[in-house]
Amino acid sequence: MIPTPTYKGKVRDVYDLGNSLLLVATDRISAFDVVFEEPVPDKGKILTRISTAWFHHFPEIANHLITDNVSLFPPPFQNNQSLEGRSVLVKKAKRIDFECVVRGYLTGSAWKEYKADGTIAHVPYPKGILESHKFETPIFTPARKNDSGHDENVSESTMEAEVGKELFLELKNLSLNLYNKAHALMAKQGILLCDTKFEFGLIDGKPILIDEILTPDSSRYWDGTTYELGKTPASFDKQILRNWLESTDWDKNPPPPALPESLILELRKKYLELEDKITLCLSQK
Ligand SMILES: Nc1ncnc2c1ncn2[C@@H]1O[C@H](COP(=O)(O)OP(=O)(O)OP(=O)(O)O)[C@@H](O)[C@H]1O
Ligand SMILES: [Mg+2]
Repeated sequence: MIPTPTYKGKVRDVYDLGNSLLLVATDRISAFDVVFEEPVPDKGKILTRISTAWFHHFPEIANHLITDNVSLFPPPFQNNQSLEGRSVLVKKAKRIDFECVVRGYLTGSAWKEYKADGTIAHVPYPKGILESHKFETPIFTPARKNDSGHDENVSESTMEAEVGKELFLELKNLSLNLYNKAHALMAKQGILLCDTKFEFGLIDGKPILIDEILTPDSSRYWDGTTYELGKTPASFDKQILRNWLESTDWDKNPPPPALPESLILELRKKYLELEDKITLCLSQK
């Protein structure tokens, strides 16, 4: 028997073990910050494999991973079958409460902001830009992590004022570099990494990558063959779920609607397909 989690996130169960955390990726799925009743079978395992593979691909950037091997977990978690393949033991960091979002293309909340106010991350942009527009260079659009409720898109200067100039620039550069490298790799398989978010934490005052990276929960992966300016391309991530939800009359407040079996199977299939493509890209160094 494993104990009750210290913290139940939307999709992960977190056990606080003092200097380390055990992050367990469940099969829960969330959208618009609401968790659905129906799990997507194996999702937690697929996302854990994807995130771990990307962490290993960037050994030059310090990250929180200790091990994903259940036989090396401390008791009472050691060798627990229900944790196998979906859990990582990580260094506990002092979390920096900003999501470091990088966008290569205009969509999602940035597109909504642009349509409403003509700005992106509070910066004015020229009129007439279409949805899915590819930015000349990817942009950094941080979001403040709020304990309750939704994350809040803020300007670069707001984040800079809160974390300090030096740390801000370091996180921004790390995020943009990671995005650029991952984008270039995935493009070889016809996948466009539209946007993604990273989280960082401090250990001994130094920033390290935490949480999960470059998963279809933290990123939009587009099918490049369906890319068309002014439209939302087909994707290998939660957008399938978001699109379905937008087609219902659900007001995005709990309780969420029941998800049809066919949608769950479609999501599972897309996650697996994406994992295959990422594995292929990462093996072709
Ligand atoms: N190495 C780490 N040190 C400290 N906190 C971490 C570390 N890795 C991940 N976290 C935090 O652990 C939690 C993981 O849970 P999960 O992402 O499922 O929660 P969530 O509901 O999405 O909440 P949040 O909006 O805070 O991300 C997150 O709050 C994340 O920021
Ligand atoms: Mg999270």
